[in-house]
Parts: sequence; C-alpha cells; structure tokens
Amino acid sequence: MCGIVGYVGRRPGKPVILDGLRRLEYRGYDSAGIALIEEGGIDTVRAVGNLDALFAAAGENRSEACVGLGHTRWATHGKPSEENAHPHSDCSGRISIVLNGIVENYKELRARLTEHGHTFTSETDAEVVAHLIEEHGGKGLAAAVRGALGEMDGHYAFCAISADEPDVVVGTRHECPLVVGVGEHEMFFASAIPAFLTHTRRVVVLEDGDVVTLRADGAEYTDVAGEPLVREETEFPGDDDAAEKAGYETFMLKEIHEQPAALRDTLAGRLCEDGTVDLSEVGMGDDFLRRLRRIFIVACGTSYHAGLIVSYAIEQLARVPVQIDVASEFRYREPVFDPDTLVIGITQSGESADTLAAMRLAREAGSPVLALTNTPGSQATRDSDFVLYTRAGLEIGVAATKTHTAQVAAMLLLALRLAWARGSMPEDALKALGHELRTVPELAEQLLARPSAIKEIAERYHDERFFLYLGRGMGFAVCLEGALKLKEISYIPTEAYAAGEMKHGPIALLDVESPVVVVADDGPVFPKLVSNIEEVRARGADVIAVATDDNDVIGELSRDVLWIPKTDHHLAPILAVIPLQLLAYHIAGIKGLNVDQPRNLAKTVTVE
Ligand code: BG6
Repeated sequence: MCGIVGYVGRRPGKPVILDGLRRLEYRGYDSAGIALIEEGGIDTVRAVGNLDALFAAAGENRSEACVGLGHTRWATHGKPSEENAHPHSDCSGRISIVLNGIVENYKELRARLTEHGHTFTSETDAEVVAHLIEEHGGKGLAAAVRGALGEMDGHYAFCAISADEPDVVVGTRHECPLVVGVGEHEMFFASAIPAFLTHTRRVVVLEDGDVVTLRADGAEYTDVAGEPLVREETEFPGDDDAAEKAGYETFMLKEIHEQPAALRDTLAGRLCEDGTVDLSEVGMGDDFLRRLRRIFIVACGTSYHAGLIVSYAIEQLARVPVQIDVASEFRYREPVFDPDTLVIGITQSGESADTLAAMRLAREAGSPVLALTNTPGSQATRDSDFVLYTRAGLEIGVAATKTHTAQVAAMLLLALRLAWARGSMPEDALKALGHELRTVPELAEQLLARPSAIKEIAERYHDERFFLYLGRGMGFAVCLEGALKLKEISYIPTEAYAAGEMKHGPIALLDVESPVVVVADDGPVFPKLVSNIEEVRARGADVIAVATDDNDVIGELSRDVLWIPKTDHHLAPILAVIPLQLLAYHIAGIKGLNVDQPRNLAKTVTVE
C-alpha cells in the first residue's frame, strides 16, 4: 500500500518528510518521491527503487522549504517508473498531489480532462487528481480539492499543495487511512502514525469525506460541502513497533484485518458498475480467451490453495478444463503443453523458485503464461506474458492471509471474465455474480467486526494433538488452507480431507472429542456433507463448523458454528477462510508462539 507524508511547519520540511517516508517503508513500495514549495515554485524529485535512490536523487543540498509532500508508491496502475512515481503535478506545475488507493473512474476523468486540453505525463490513475484540482481552481486549494472530490469514484486518501498557497497542505480521505499529527508550530499528514511519531504523539484520525487544511499553527476541518467540522485529538499510546502494526499485537493479526481493504483494492477499477469485469490491463483479449482449451494453475503453499479454490469456479462458470499442481511437482512431471493452454503462476512474492521454474518451463514449451502476483517488478512479472496484480499491500506475516484472499478475488475476476468472453453463462447471471463480488469486501468487514466464539474454541482445543478438517467442493480447498494455517503457526499436526474420502482412512483417527473442523460450502453438495458430519459425530468427535448465517441445519450437528455472511457459494471461500485464520491465530497465541515468524518457515522460498 502506498505511503503518504505531508508537512507544514517553521523548519525545513525535506528531512522531516524523508524521515517520515523511511518510517513507512514497512508498507512496501517500488518507487518514491518528494515535492517541496521552494521560492521559485514546487520542486519535485522522484526515483524508482528503494528510498536510498530517492535520498540520492534528492541530494544533500539543504532546502529551506517548510511545506511539502512525500510518497512511497505500491504500483497499481502503471509500472514502477519515475514518471509514474508520485508526487504528480497539474499542467502548470503549481499544484502537486500524492495519493494512496484507487480512483476507479480515472479513465473517463482522464479522457474528459484531455479533451479540455490537459496533458498527462504518467499512466497512473492518481495524476487525474492534480488536473481536477487545477480545473476547480480559483477559490483556494481546499475548495478546489472539494470540487475534485465531487467527481471522483473509488477509495483513496490524498494530499495536495499549491505554489499559490505556499503555507498550507490540504488532505482528504475516502476509505483509505489518513491521519493528522499535531506538533508545536508544525502539522503533519500521514497514511500511518509511524511517519511522524518521533515528532508528536498528538493524533487526529480523519473520517471519510473530511477535507483538512493544515497550516503551521493548526488545522481546519470541513466536510466535502465545506461545512466546518470538529475532530477530536488523541494521544497515541504505543511505540514505533505498535504503530507499524497499527496497534495490532502482531503483523499477522493486522493483515487478517486488512483483508477488506486488500479485497477492495484488488477489485477496484476491475469490477464495473454494471457487474461486468474489466481486465483490459492484463491484455488477454476475447479471441485469446475463447481459444483457450485448458488452464494449468501452478503455485506453492497458500497460493496453491487459492488456485485450488478458484479452479472449481473457473470450470463451473467458464467451462474451461483446469488442472492444478504444486509447482515443485509440476516442473518435474513432464506435463504436456500446447499454445492453447494458459498456465497461471500464482505467487504473492513473485519469487518462489518452484513456481518461477514451472512458469519458465511452460513458456519455453510455447504455452502463454499469466503471473498472478502481489509484487510489482518481481521475477514472475518478467517470466510471464501477462500479469494480474493483487493489491494487498506488503504482507509481513510469514503465514499468508490477506494475499490469499486477494488472490482468490483476483482469480474470481478472471473466472468471470473468461465466462463472459466464452459466453458460457447467461450475461445477467454473470452480472449478478459481479455485483455480488462487489459486496464481498463489506461482508468481510462485517465478519471481522462480529463478536465470535473463536477465542473460547481456541482455549478449549489449544492442547489438542491433532485436528481433522473436512469439506466438499470449494469447502475442501478452504479446509486445506485452514489446516495449513494451524499447522504453520501452532505446529499442531492437521489433516484436511475431502469429506467423501473420510471412510477411506481418516475416520480411523477420530476419538471422543477429537476436534473436526467442517467447512459447510452451501452449494449442491451440502446434503452429502451432512451425512459425513453425522458419521463424525457418531464417533464422538467435536464438530466445529464454518457455515453461512442462513444455514438452519448445521447448528444441531455441531458443537460450535463459526458463522459467515451469506453470499454466492462461488464467492463464499473468501469469507470462510477468515474464521479459520483467526482460529489458528488464537490457538498459536494461547500457546505463546511467534505467529509472525513461525519456526523453520520463510516468507518466500527462493530456493528449491
Ligand atoms: C511460503 C509462505 O514460504 O511460500 C507461504 O510461507 C506462501 O505463506 C508460499 O503461500 C508461496 O509463496 P508465494 O510468494 O509464491 O505466494
């Protein structure tokens, strides 16, 4: 996720802003920039790569500028490059902005602004904001920002400066974080508190729609209409580490709770208002998609589970045969390739050795390769013909969480796009699914906000020596991921099985009160799953079920139910995995284990 820093004060802003960017590095980025209001106008420096490149480009020269903006960019629209790095300017160069998030309607805005004679210098969505502010100029920067907001769709936070008002910074937010730091004769904007924590602990957390004007000696808050607002100042109690974790006890828990935002970012600009999917950024046209005769999915670990979950949806919705394999097997089993087989490499890091090798093997054999990755500029983006990005932001916890659900969401977009191109489903049914997918981030938000019995369940079973996970269809794939999470961070042996296979072995493992997690995918196979649950209960095991709110059968079959909001069963896996992430998390926490860095595991396995 991008990082924003804004500063207005009585001392030189350059070192303050650069230090603030350094403290936002944990958010992940691929380029950075700074803009300062100097005597002659706005001076902007941008650089690709890590902050050392920006520091070198900005040079050691002392600047007396007391107002400026800084930005670390996590590329979404437009590759990592100096031209695409923020800050972005308007045509006059007298306005400069930095943005975090997505302007979903940037294409139509850019077209209209271009018709009005604006010239663009980047491929980004963010740049349109600078030109919108220019268009709405004449009544002051804050009014121009409010005017721009009236035309923008999406979710974003941005800050703006103007050479015509050299003593202010204006900032606003809509579904992306922006906080104000209140200093002594200096004020700060930032995407996250660590950016200014060494200067002040006095914080004002903004609400969606707030438009804030900062001057050295204070802040003026209004709503989008310009009506004055009052915002409470609080004292941030934590230290730097707590701030980087946004107050959560671990990165993993923070990242579990970042899933709604990661889903929103991944879907933004790709799910149209009418429910159709726009993946034109990927470059696979209708003809190409129609010609496909088969899809191979290759991945490792949690990414493999994302592929397995959506392999069901691709076959059911797009009627394209899908094979999926762990990359370390795929690369050595001499698979048969052909030009009409699309190979999809799912890798959040874009660096997993086995997945890269599998992708290279496919490409050398003449099959087109799509990389689904969370990391711009990673090796996977270079070893592929097409790239589809998840936009989950940097994931620090070794056990993947938000990147997994973002992968599922991105793959579902692909499934819908494929079905549309191939006419495999009625268009109104596809649009309805697209509309439903748009609601999933909000459903995830609601789910994470619910009180739940997970901690009590974790307390009850944290000493267990074994967990069995059972499911059917996509529910089975979710079980694989849930079982892996528990194994990875609590070191408890687990096994995930297709429920229909239970009588062929796993049932021998059950004892009285053995914990059995069941993911009740409420698709057509649910009645079969009910029989399996009965068989489990007949052996005295404790059933912990994951089920949708409207399931009125599961309650009497289970000792505990982890309820999730109702949605289409193709989309439900995104929600179903969340309680299983939290169950694993709390069990590991009770056992006093380090969930962010579990023993023997690495975040990215760059060797075979
Ligand atoms: C493992 C990580 O090392 O690699 C997992 O611990 C991850 O969380 C797996 O799923 C695959 O990584 P990637 O980057 O290829 O998705």
